[in-house]
Amino acid sequence: MSQPELPLVLIGFGNVARRFLRLLDESAERLDFTWRVVGLSTRHHGSVIDTAGIDVARAIALVESNQSLDRLESEPRERSGIDVIRQVTDAMADEASDGRLVCVETTVLDIDRGEPAVSHVRAALEGQAHVITANKGPAAFAYHELEALAESVDRIFFFEGAVMDGVPVFNLVRETMPAIAIDGFRGVINSTCNFILSELERGKEFDVALAEMQARGIAEADPSLDVDGWDAAAKTAALVNVLMGSAMTPHHVVRSGIRDVTGLDVRDAIARNRRIRLVASASRQGGKVRARVEPEVLERSDPLANLEDVENALYLNTDLLGQVGIVQRTGSLTQTAYALLSDLARISQRLRDI
Ligand SMILES: NC(=O)c1ccc[n+]([C@@H]2O[C@H](COP(=O)([O-])OP(=O)(O)OC[C@H]3O[C@@H](n4cnc5c(N)ncnc54)[C@H](OP(=O)(O)O)[C@@H]3O)[C@@H](O)[C@H]2O)c1
Repeated sequence: MSQPELPLVLIGFGNVARRFLRLLDESAERLDFTWRVVGLSTRHHGSVIDTAGIDVARAIALVESNQSLDRLESEPRERSGIDVIRQVTDAMADEASDGRLVCVETTVLDIDRGEPAVSHVRAALEGQAHVITANKGPAAFAYHELEALAESVDRIFFFEGAVMDGVPVFNLVRETMPAIAIDGFRGVINSTCNFILSELERGKEFDVALAEMQARGIAEADPSLDVDGWDAAAKTAALVNVLMGSAMTPHHVVRSGIRDVTGLDVRDAIARNRRIRLVASASRQGGKVRARVEPEVLERSDPLANLEDVENALYLNTDLLGQVGIVQRTGSLTQTAYALLSDLARISQRLRDI
């Protein structure tokens, strides 16, 4: 069977999206599909649409030298992300109806309402494109609506990169744990906070550790989302919505971050053979799901206490398998880009299975 070609429209063209396109190139020989980029949208760096295929190397060079993508068009025009999605889905209606058009959503997390990412996902699905995203907003604020829409148009809405980068959490449960009920979970799921806490233990300054996470492209564009626990709360809401079948937003998660945790606090915990970690958890209580994100003082025997630097772990409480643990030892942009790649590979697989 010949390899399917997947036209990609990317809404958001920051660290994750650019690493994703480079990773596709690096992995080309291992993939059973080809792709071409037909649309790019940013907030401050313009947009470009070309259904014949955009010169990706030039687009990356433009954005990385802080220039506008408009330079790739003979008649540049101002367009929002929604405009780009609608123009591409209209122009590529055949590819959309064949199930080959894919929207890759990687705009920044909006903690108020998950917008405009939720609207981007909705518009893409309405235009019959599949959607893959590393943005937590859509699954944290509107999972049930968007999943129902995806099902109604027979398209995929995947977001593996929203929690623990490319380490399978959602796909693991979806693909390998049929008929299991998840009653709760507990984990360390924010790399930036875990790194800062690890560095505080070593006597480093909070701001220096945070700057390092920003330099590596791991901290959120607005790092207060990490430090104040919002990123972990968004991931917690996404996990509750998807894995526990409940409906909540990050605002329903009882939350406190690590902003007020000091070097003295973490070193005092170590002196008592304990460690402070930012723990996200959820459990079913009397038919309701309750979720929290907060710094906890953990016994050394707690598996979450052993997580260093950017390591993450998530322990799912299941009815049939007991506790299932997922540990992520490495965290970088490549892992997040891989999440998108793995979601895209599953779309290709689905096309081949038809
Ligand atoms: N970085 C990580 O390690 C990581 C890990 C897991 C998940 N994520 C998630 O992945 C997403 C992307 O992260 P990133 O590190 O790539 O962020 P980033 O470098 O800040 O890039 C965000 C991109 O989105 C664009 N954008 C923002 N608002 C937009 C809008 N309304 N319409 C169109 N484009 C818009 C930005 O354009 P301008 O640059 O022109 O403003 C930029 O191109 C975020 O949701 C983040 O939470 C990131």
